[in-house]
Amino acid sequence: MIFESHAHYDDEDFDADREELLSSLAACGIGTVVNIGASLAGSAATVRLTEQYPFIYGAVGVHPSEVEELSEEGMEQLRAWCSHEKIIAVGETGLDYHYPDPAVSVQKEWFARQLALAEEVKLPVIIHSREAAKDTLDIMQAHRAGEIGGVVHCFSYAKEMAREYLNMDFYFGIGGVITFKNAKKLKEAVQYIPLEKILLETDSPYLAPDPHRGERNTSLNLPYVAEAIAELKGISYEEVVETTERNARRLFGI
Ligand code: NI
Repeated sequence: MIFESHAHYDDEDFDADREELLSSLAACGIGTVVNIGASLAGSAATVRLTEQYPFIYGAVGVHPSEVEELSEEGMEQLRAWCSHEKIIAVGETGLDYHYPDPAVSVQKEWFARQLALAEEVKLPVIIHSREAAKDTLDIMQAHRAGEIGGVVHCFSYAKEMAREYLNMDFYFGIGGVITFKNAKKLKEAVQYIPLEKILLETDSPYLAPDPHRGERNTSLNLPYVAEAIAELKGISYEEVVETTERNARRLFGI
């Protein structure tokens, strides 16, 4: 079954129909979901979702746009959640230079701290990197991210950068953007990346694939993503679904 490696079902966009939607996933072929914390409140909500639904696992972390809320106390809270049996990764964490706020130095500091936490608690890391390829890589290399392991979520860089992450044995989260007509560089990168290093993801409620671009995204749209990858690689839809599920289970140890 499809393994959804990155969704934000704690988001308020799902307040009206969360229960109904989550209960419908299995019948539509979505077997497992990793809910990703993007803030302290989101991480707390993630822990609760993992307790409510057997097929939901979680990652706890603070997104680069939200790191100003972090403090030693916040880091302690993240560390405590990491010992929960269904918390299987740290993140999302990283750098986002698309919005220059918070300052780059602040983003870098808390990215490094969350990488150190992942190393300490021995969990893989979920990386968010937007318009910050070089700095992301430098910080990952300085913090031995290759030994920590993890996934670059919503991978959006070109083939050359994919090679750098492959050298660190990282996985690549591929989502709705792969279905967009103008995603030429990403399509080239996906042809280059071995299927054994790809995870399916939506980033719900964001980044819905064609033909639902602009709408609220849910894991129910993952077949469009798997189909696009199958077409680019000249393999079957089933092979994409089965291999990416195996990849996710290997990375997260579930
Ligand atoms: Ni996300």
